Amino acid sequence: MSILVTGGAGYIGSVTVERLQAVGESVVVLDNLDRGHREAVTRETPLYHGRVGDRALIAKIATEHIIESCVHFAALAYVGESVEKPEKYFENNVEQGIAFLGSLLAAGVRRFVFSSTAATYGEPERTPIDEDCRQWPKNPYGWSKLIMERLLDSYDTAHGLKFASLRYFNAAGATERRGEHHDPETHLIPIVLAAAAGESAEVPVFGHDYPTPDGTAIRDYIHVADLADAHIRALEYLRKGGNSDFVNLGSGDGYSVLEVIETARRVTKREIRIRKEARRAGDPARLVADSAKARRVLGWKPAMSDLASIIGSAWDWKTRNPRGYVSR
Ligand SMILES: NC(=O)c1ccc[n+]([C@@H]2O[C@H](COP(=O)([O-])OP(=O)(O)OC[C@H]3O[C@@H](n4cnc5c(N)ncnc54)[C@H](O)[C@@H]3O)[C@@H](O)[C@H]2O)c1
Repeated sequence: MSILVTGGAGYIGSVTVERLQAVGESVVVLDNLDRGHREAVTRETPLYHGRVGDRALIAKIATEHIIESCVHFAALAYVGESVEKPEKYFENNVEQGIAFLGSLLAAGVRRFVFSSTAATYGEPERTPIDEDCRQWPKNPYGWSKLIMERLLDSYDTAHGLKFASLRYFNAAGATERRGEHHDPETHLIPIVLAAAAGESAEVPVFGHDYPTPDGTAIRDYIHVADLADAHIRALEYLRKGGNSDFVNLGSGDGYSVLEVIETARRVTKREIRIRKEARRAGDPARLVADSAKARRVLGWKPAMSDLASIIGSAWDWKTRNPRGYVSR
């Protein structure tokens, strides 16, 4: 019996595969390697190179392995790109997502863990953000994820598909062997560490006049290994017959951009210069999770998500892998 992990060559997916295997699970990876890295998956792990929307490929995987559940990370995930090319996001994340769910149902798979996002809330109506907050995304990426959430809910009613939709806040950090390598990189912590490593002259800081203590925007960072652990718990929850649900995954702590940079200076002992920029349109002042439901429903609480540990692990990985993954 295997777990099908889509997007398992990507950042969060590859760490989750590593953790699933560490607890003795059998894993099959499906990734088109469009944004992932061959090296992030061990040679011993079955890796199918292809698209989640390829129905023939999913049928083939299901004949070659007994798939008991699926963890679906595969998606395009750049907010800016989604604004410029919405059709690409709706095709990849939704159109292929529909085909994929159909293929899984045809193969008898009824347990599904989905990578959703805090971006489905858009500008939050209150903070900390709980799962009952209104969802009104500000960009096509967020909409593509919210549409998938609605599909999952309907597929549960119609076809008995049991799912856990996990709404991540900002994933960051690394394990010993796997870290974050996106090209281009849009996430704050790797951008800050690139500046610490001398790969860029300075870090642009967007907005200094937010209603926060130091004027910069506050976000909730969650260690990628804690995220992986939540997926293992979500699978267990579904295996025990848990009802479909939507769960935030955040640390519940908020750090400002300047706090992240100051912590990175301390951890790396390097100079990190900043460049002040105006606010970006659509960037809220504060996005912090209410993570009580994850504790209640999944019995999950982050263990490694204090900011210094997150940044320290990312810096260690970067120091060992200065060019990130070498393969595409
Ligand atoms: N990184 C974050 O902070 C964050 C926050 C919220 C939600 N998420 C979600 O978590 C998931 C993983 O994020 P990540 O940062 O690891 O991204 P990533 O880009 O590193 O990984 C995604 C992987 O999916 C693959 N992929 C994309 N479309 C595919 C398709 N149609 N068929 C097969 N493979 C495909 C890519 O090649 C890549 O390896 C995504 O769904 C993302 O939307 C991430």
